[in-house]
Amino acid sequence: MKENSVNPGREHWSGQLGFILAAAGSAIGLGNIWRFPYITGENGGGAFILVYLLCVAFVGLPVMICEITLGRHTQRNPAGCFAQLTPKSSVLSHFLGGGMILTGIALLFFHSFGWGIAALVLGGLVFWQSWRLVGLMGVLTGFLILSYYSVVGGWAIGYAIKAAGNHLAFTGVEQAQETFDNFVSSPLPVIGFHFFFMLLCVVIVYKGVQKGIETACKVMVPLLFIIMLVLILRGLTLPGADAGVRFCFTPDFSKLSAQGVLIALSHAFFTLSLGMGAMITYGSYLGKNENIFGAAVWITALDTLFAILACLMIFPAVFAMGFEASEGPGLLFQVVPAVFNQIPLGPVWAVLFFLLLLMAALSSGISLLEVVTAYFVDERKWPRHRAVIGTGAVIFLLGTLCAISLNNWNALPGIQEAVTACFGGARASFFDLIDNLTSNWMLPLGGFFIALFTGWVWGTRKAIEEIRHGSKNFADVHLLTLMAGLKDDPSHNSSKHPLTLATLWGIFIRFVCPVAILITFLHTIGWLNLTP
Ligand code: PHE
Repeated sequence: MKENSVNPGREHWSGQLGFILAAAGSAIGLGNIWRFPYITGENGGGAFILVYLLCVAFVGLPVMICEITLGRHTQRNPAGCFAQLTPKSSVLSHFLGGGMILTGIALLFFHSFGWGIAALVLGGLVFWQSWRLVGLMGVLTGFLILSYYSVVGGWAIGYAIKAAGNHLAFTGVEQAQETFDNFVSSPLPVIGFHFFFMLLCVVIVYKGVQKGIETACKVMVPLLFIIMLVLILRGLTLPGADAGVRFCFTPDFSKLSAQGVLIALSHAFFTLSLGMGAMITYGSYLGKNENIFGAAVWITALDTLFAILACLMIFPAVFAMGFEASEGPGLLFQVVPAVFNQIPLGPVWAVLFFLLLLMAALSSGISLLEVVTAYFVDERKWPRHRAVIGTGAVIFLLGTLCAISLNNWNALPGIQEAVTACFGGARASFFDLIDNLTSNWMLPLGGFFIALFTGWVWGTRKAIEEIRHGSKNFADVHLLTLMAGLKDDPSHNSSKHPLTLATLWGIFIRFVCPVAILITFLHTIGWLNLTP
């Protein structure tokens, strides 16, 4: 296929708004409502939020522009996109592959067999597949994330039903904890709800890009904001809520560690759906005349706004009721019902809250399923219905393993022993294993390679040519002229300006993003320790 040929039969979004809402739906998810408040709570509140905002603006936004551009240019899924743009031979990929093989040999030498073999296999694959591997890894990541994401989506359904039946009337956190532990470790209902969640994803994705995904997000994303605002108003009007607001907006840098900064960066990837090609896939359904830069800014801003709102929804209520902010992952499912139980009309607020959680998870789940579906439709030429149902069924089965593993690893004989024998470490469940593997490894690695590929292999020049369609100001107006609102003034309007949004973006993609991600990544795997 010629490099810049577009795929004429491909379905497209109805326009810029449809794309922005669908992509915002993908970005806004469990990451915002469940994960962000508790990591903020654990890392000291305001100061952490500030660092997170910097990570989103300086790393998240540039990579988001990259992904959408790659997608729209190739009009294909992530694997097809990289297959199309990978050059016949790439010095950089040989260098990276060679480096991994040498690392693998060194690790074997130090008797770290699991990691050693992993590095050797990965290095070999990089040599063989070159940049194609990045796209394939993205599809695999989508597959893995959805398998546990859907289990948590199922919990939200279960809790919404419990709330409706007034079964969440806890008087203290211990009782809430016990209910939660009993619930997640009872396989049958959890698998049932997980099945239902996957079914909802399959039905929406089955209907197609415009009729399914876009229509669903056009309803769900505005509803998300409305429900969120209602819950915030309720929380803020509780006596004592101001402590929660102060917690979110008063930066106390003494509570922020190097670890906290790195958590903020890897969370920026997860929450913006970056690093695995969700935005490449959604970008591939974008028309040539739409404004990529504008859309990326909107998606990033909406996701960030939603994360801050989630903190404003949760912390005032938590503080007003006298709970601890650093409650950890259980913050949502344990503290929130206990909080709601103490205010008038508690069950109503609780049902609303878990519906909010469910819709947020669903609008992200469909984007994960669409990545995998698009791969089978584009590359394997499967009819859409077969791709959706087939991959949905396999993801359901893998998610079932995650659900069972939270109850009892022994139900999956051999897997845990094999994992522990190869990689050592704590006896984490299969669920935690997949969560950890995808969010701490595969997404940052994917983001790193996407930035590196666009910056140094495909080239920022070609990328900017693609962005120019629909977004002239990006590359042709001086940044200061643009900011001053003088872009239509003839004396300011030459296209030969060196400082434009495009030059800024190019520098970020080539240098700032890869270095920042590399530091986070090395810290995550423990090869670089920045914590004093
Ligand atoms: N962004 C989603 C969230 O915040 C998760 C997600 C990650 C979705 C990667 C798609 C791809 O919950």
